[in-house]
Amino acid sequence: MRKFEGKVIVITGAAGGIGKATAKKLAEQGAKLTLVDLNLNAVQQVISDLGLDDSSVVALQANVAKEEEVKAYVDATVEKFGKIDGFFNNAGVEGTTANVEDYPTETFELVFNVNVKGAFLGLKYVVPVMKKQGFGSIVNTASGAGLIGSPGFVGYNSSKHAVIGMTKVVALEAAPFGVRVNAVAPGVINTKMMRNIEKNTVPEDTEGARKAFGAAVPLGRYGEAEEVANVALFLLSDDASYVSQSIYTVDGGQISQ
Ligand SMILES: NC(=O)c1ccc[n+]([C@@H]2O[C@H](COP(=O)([O-])OP(=O)(O)OC[C@H]3O[C@@H](n4cnc5c(N)ncnc54)[C@H](O)[C@@H]3O)[C@@H](O)[C@H]2O)c1
Repeated sequence: MRKFEGKVIVITGAAGGIGKATAKKLAEQGAKLTLVDLNLNAVQQVISDLGLDDSSVVALQANVAKEEEVKAYVDATVEKFGKIDGFFNNAGVEGTTANVEDYPTETFELVFNVNVKGAFLGLKYVVPVMKKQGFGSIVNTASGAGLIGSPGFVGYNSSKHAVIGMTKVVALEAAPFGVRVNAVAPGVINTKMMRNIEKNTVPEDTEGARKAFGAAVPLGRYGEAEEVANVALFLLSDDASYVSQSIYTVDGGQISQ
C-alpha cells in the first residue's frame, strides 16, 4: 500500500522547487493535494507536469500573508476532502543581500510578511482543524539560516529563526491533541531561490557564487529539492509518529560543522 493513500496534504509555495518536488512524491504515494501559491499559472503547470487529476487535487492562488486567503485555502480543502492529514507550510521569499545598515526596510517587511506572518497564519487556521480531528502532522520550512547567523541576510535569517520558534511553541500546544509539528531546515538547495541569492550576493559572477556556496558544504554540493522532499515526507508520514518539535537539517552537514 502506498504511504499516503487516503491522506490529504496541503502545500504552500507549491509552484516552487521544494514544493513541487514534495507534491510529486506525495502524489506518487497516493496523497490528495491542495496546492497553494501566489502564482496560479505556475501551480496549474505543476498539476499538468505531474499529470494529476481533478479528483485528487485542488489548485489555489493565495498570498500566505493575507488572512482571508489563508482561511480560504484551509476551508476549500476541508470542503473538498473533509480533513487535513498533513500541512507543508513552505512558501517563502529570500529578500536581498545587504548588511543591516543598507538592508531596505520594505524588503525586511516583505520577508517577515511572507516567511513569518504567512507561516503563522497557516498554523492559525490549520491547527484547529487538526486538533478537532485529533490527528495531523505539520512541517514548517525553516532553513539552516534559522539556526546560525549569515552576514548579509538579516531579513531572511531572522525570519527563519522565527519559524523555528513558532514550530517549538505550536508543537507543544498541539501535542495533547495528537498533532505533531516539526520543521525542515534546508541548506543550499538547487531552486530558483538560490539562483536569486547568487545574483543578489555576487551579481558580477553568479557562477562563481554558485561554486563558492557549494564548496562551503561538507558534502561539496548543493542539495536537490527532492532531498528536502524526502525528509518532509518522512515527517508528514506515520513513520514519524513519535517525532514532534524537531528541527531536521537537510544541508549536507553545513550547519553542524
Ligand atoms: N532553496 C534553498 O536553498 C532553501 C534553503 C533553505 C530554506 N528554503 C525555504 O524553502 C521554501 C521553498 O523555497 P524554494 O527553494 O522552493 O524556493 P522557490 O523560490 O522555488 O519557491 C518559493 C515559492 O513560494 C511562493 N511564494 C512566495 N511568496 C508567496 C506568498 N506570499 N504566498 C504564496 N506563495 C508564495 C513562490 O511563488 C514560489 O513558488 C522557502 O520557505 C525557502 O525559504 C530554501
